[in-house]
Amino acid sequence: MTGKTYFVTTYGCQMNEHDSERLSGMLEADGYTKATAPAEADVVVFNTCCIREKADTRLYGNLGHLKSVKDARPGMKIVVGGCLAQKDRSLIQTKAPYVDVVLGTHNLASLPRLLRESDTGPSFEILEQTEVFPSALPARRSSPWHAWVSISIGCNNSCTFCIVPAVRGEEVSRRTGDIVAEVQSLVADGVVEVTLLGQNVNSYGRDLDGTPMFSKLLFALDSVEGLERVRFTSPHPKDFRADTVEAMANCRSVCEHIHLPVQAGSDRVLKRMKRAYTRARYMEKLAMVRAAIPDVAVTTDIIVGFPGETEDDFAETLSLVEEARYDAAYTFQYSSRPMTEAADLPDHLPKEVVQERYERLTELQDRISFESNIANVGRTHEVLVEGPSKKDPGKLTGRTRTNKLVHFGSDGADAGTLRTVRITAAHPHHLEGEGHASRLTLPLAAEAQGCGSCS
Ligand code: SAH
Ligand code: SF4
Ligand code: F3S
Repeated sequence: MTGKTYFVTTYGCQMNEHDSERLSGMLEADGYTKATAPAEADVVVFNTCCIREKADTRLYGNLGHLKSVKDARPGMKIVVGGCLAQKDRSLIQTKAPYVDVVLGTHNLASLPRLLRESDTGPSFEILEQTEVFPSALPARRSSPWHAWVSISIGCNNSCTFCIVPAVRGEEVSRRTGDIVAEVQSLVADGVVEVTLLGQNVNSYGRDLDGTPMFSKLLFALDSVEGLERVRFTSPHPKDFRADTVEAMANCRSVCEHIHLPVQAGSDRVLKRMKRAYTRARYMEKLAMVRAAIPDVAVTTDIIVGFPGETEDDFAETLSLVEEARYDAAYTFQYSSRPMTEAADLPDHLPKEVVQERYERLTELQDRISFESNIANVGRTHEVLVEGPSKKDPGKLTGRTRTNKLVHFGSDGADAGTLRTVRITAAHPHHLEGEGHASRLTLPLAAEAQGCGSCS
């Protein structure tokens, strides 16, 4: 035992959550224990993201804050890993020379060695290819009942706005047998829900035997006894086909929720983004999944202000959102990234134009999300309990199979157990369950403003 403590701060997507659990696992295997805050830890790890410029700024700001803590605590070590480290490499040393260890997305496994080497000076290592699949590393999971399961790493697409292929490398799939074995051992350890992770889950397996095998993987996992729920993110619309829909419809454990990132509603913009589908093709896929799975929830990602986006293009995004009626959407303002094709396109839009369009989009989607939540009032959902509600500890919080957040009256249920909950009220971003007075009052706008939990 080292008797030392660590703290891992995670930025970015679920893949980084997954990787952070491995970084923590390796440190615990080396005798470190988890500290309650970064300022109290002997080793502080930042697992970084660089998908948008804001993520970069935030990291350097946080490093700056920690420097004064480190100055007062000799022996403290700062580690920067993940996508921004992969992108910035030696720039981190220039901007934050007090950082002790830098490691990229391909060499998580090197953390213990790099930490030891940093006893004699800064220790930096960025590789171009993954040496040890992160799933093979020990994990310290943050939830006893949920696990992130990586099915592939990297991405072979070339969406012109996206830096992920540059920092995560080529797509490499894990063998189905290894994934199933991992899920079986997770279930034996008390896990009831897994989220399968890949940048493009529908191309899973193409590098293994030439054909995508995602639907087969879903069927294989469905036969794991004790596994209640399977989620996955993200399918790329261009590769999302009938076989996956069929697997979703026929596998008991696969949840009735699909996250299908559309990015834009205009064919002209989709082409410049190199998304490889048209609006019409995308809507066909949406219709296919809705026809096969009644009450399936659909969520998406949308980028506003892609270079050259005209007011007419944006109007098409708004009309697509009206037509698609998403349960929720993650909306982003376009951010120019190095190593991407879009960075060199002409006609980048002024900030104010993007902001104004963004506000119109989120206002529209909030209304639609609220309406979709209202449609759930009076229905009964199976809810997986996550624990006491943060806003109101007298209530429990959990998620429906459709991934909607529900706060409901506490009956003392443990986290990780399933409950049947009758929905009594709707808000734009969550539901309320049985046991509480119905608060479903119209008009919508008044209700939307009235809730402190919605933001
Ligand atoms: N592999 C996933 C996406 C990962 S990035 C997929 O294809 O679905 C998550 C989301 O971030 C993207 O869907 C996109 O909406 C957004 N995003 C990516 N690059 C961006 C950029 N340069 N500016 C703004 N948003 C971006
Ligand atoms: Fe990025 Fe496109 Fe790959 Fe998703 S599919 S990670 S958006 S390049
Ligand atoms: Fe994820 Fe951000 Fe990397 S979104 S893959 S952590 S750039």
